[in-house]
Amino acid sequence: TNPNVLFYIAAYLIGGIPFGYILAKIFAKVDIKKSGSHSIGATNVLRVVKQKDEKLAKKLAIATVVFDALKGAVLVLIAKFLGFPPAVWWMVGIMTVLGHCYSIFLRFEGGKGVATGMGVLLVLLPIETLIGIVVWALVAKTTKISSLASLSGLIAVIVASFIIHPELPHVKSHAPLLLLAFIIVYKHLPNIVRLIQGKEGKVAT
Ligand code: G3P
Repeated sequence: TNPNVLFYIAAYLIGGIPFGYILAKIFAKVDIKKSGSHSIGATNVLRVVKQKDEKLAKKLAIATVVFDALKGAVLVLIAKFLGFPPAVWWMVGIMTVLGHCYSIFLRFEGGKGVATGMGVLLVLLPIETLIGIVVWALVAKTTKISSLASLSGLIAVIVASFIIHPELPHVKSHAPLLLLAFIIVYKHLPNIVRLIQGKEGKVAT
């Protein structure tokens, strides 16, 4: 078998490890798939666990971001250091995000790919991603709407990438970045509808 394919399968499986779901289940004894937005990401961990214990919610949400981001970064780093070609690094990143968003361990439900995508992109496009994180933080702080902050950060990464790297380093076009972004945006469609209707709630007050 082509070793790239095995790598993609591994990336999809590891991407599917639902850290937010596991942490909330073990430490707060709640099933975040059944409450809030039903997403397994840090935002929903914060939202759901907050109803029980505010301090614990913050800790678990931070741990979820860190683990989900590490999950994204680690495999891309391995692909890099094992000497795979750059297109494979991107494909591994995309498969990890797909695994997170459509987890094989949760009957193809999952998260929205923001923290995992951030981990992937920190390795592949560090400057753009840092800009995205700054935009995310500003929007999160001013609006307290998590999805709006995530989507704004993502748009910032894409815009910055076209300015900083009219041709992405190592790969010929922006297609892999746009594909990664598409998965994240697609998973945010319900959020986008609510944002347009002005019904998207704040996470922290
Ligand atoms: O990072 C996920 C965030 O953008 C939206 O999450 O749970 O509010 O739909 P949620």
